[in-house]
Amino acid sequence: MFRQEVNSWNDERIGTSEIHGGDIVVVHSRFDELLNLELKKHGNFHNRYGIFNHDDLLGKNAGRRWITASGKVATGAGFVIVLRPTPELWTLSLSHRTQIVYTHDIAVITAEMDLRPGSIVVEAGTGSGSMTASLARAVAPTGRVVSFEIHEDRAKKATEDFEKLGISDYITVTHRNVGTEGFKGIPESSVDAVFLDLPAVWDVAAEAERILRVDGVLATFSPCVEQVQQTYEELSKLNFSEIETSTVGFRTWDTKKRSKDYSQSETEQERKRKRVSEGRGNQAGERSGIPDKDDIVKKCDVELVSRPYREIMTHTSYLTFARRLENKPKPSDAKVQSEGGDKPGGKD
Ligand SMILES: C[S@@+](CC[C@H](N)C(=O)[O-])C[C@H]1O[C@@H](n2cnc3c(N)ncnc32)[C@H](O)[C@@H]1O
Repeated sequence: MFRQEVNSWNDERIGTSEIHGGDIVVVHSRFDELLNLELKKHGNFHNRYGIFNHDDLLGKNAGRRWITASGKVATGAGFVIVLRPTPELWTLSLSHRTQIVYTHDIAVITAEMDLRPGSIVVEAGTGSGSMTASLARAVAPTGRVVSFEIHEDRAKKATEDFEKLGISDYITVTHRNVGTEGFKGIPESSVDAVFLDLPAVWDVAAEAERILRVDGVLATFSPCVEQVQQTYEELSKLNFSEIETSTVGFRTWDTKKRSKDYSQSETEQERKRKRVSEGRGNQAGERSGIPDKDDIVKKCDVELVSRPYREIMTHTSYLTFARRLENKPKPSDAKVQSEGGDKPGGKD
């Protein structure tokens, strides 16, 4: 079980990161390598740097360097960084059983759904649980995430993960095909938000309408624009308004020090001309290929460079949001309908 002190999903846990046996930690071993690990008394972890003893971490705080067992006797040993598993680090270190939603999309989705402590949110499907963990943090400690997954093993594994993380108090995962069974059991107008990451969102749209409270928000996550169009068609037949689709652009940049290399900015001819005009030409040196002293000093200079990562770790999908309107007036209220209609604005 993920100990309270390490877990920041709950108010009581903020402010301390002490690690105990049974906790999950995130291990950062290289700039592009994060994994999560359950710590056990007398356990160990191996990687290319060597063997790491779990016992070296127990009773200590996360946010520390973890040195190989051999590092205690030898210098120059490898180390990894041990971190507390926030939902963002969980997203980067979890086992992929499906495509997942990444943090930049999650941030926009949770903001648009107006989630806050106490909110009730329904999700389908659970997948690898990346989105679910962030939803739980947004609604904890008094809210709930009710998540559905058609694939039995995925539902089971996600439940186990949430238990290990200590966030299962905020999440219920149910094995169900919501396309055929919908959200039965959830009362009408009882939830604040619905998030659908499913191939056929339109099959569930009417059920989402049923369980959402008036003014609640539906969010859908679809990789193809054809899915967006079919979702739009379905939502516009129901009591939804403000139907909007966005994509989130996100790029990570890397800033680092590197040696200045003048060959990138000046040609050999330009450099020769400069040396002669500055009266520091070294003809003998140039003939023999020996650089002059100033050049050596310049080459050792360092500069800061910033460039975007070539690889963008994301799976960009279309985010569609819609707001639950009150039900359309019944035919017996025909007068109201003919005066107002569905669109805002009066008659010309
Ligand atoms: C792309 S994954 C969801 C990933 C998840 N949002 C995450 O961030 O980890 C889609 C999931 O929906 C599930 N699914 C598909 N159709 C479903 C249905 N009709 N009812 C319930 N779950 C369904 C799939 O089994 C799959 O696990």
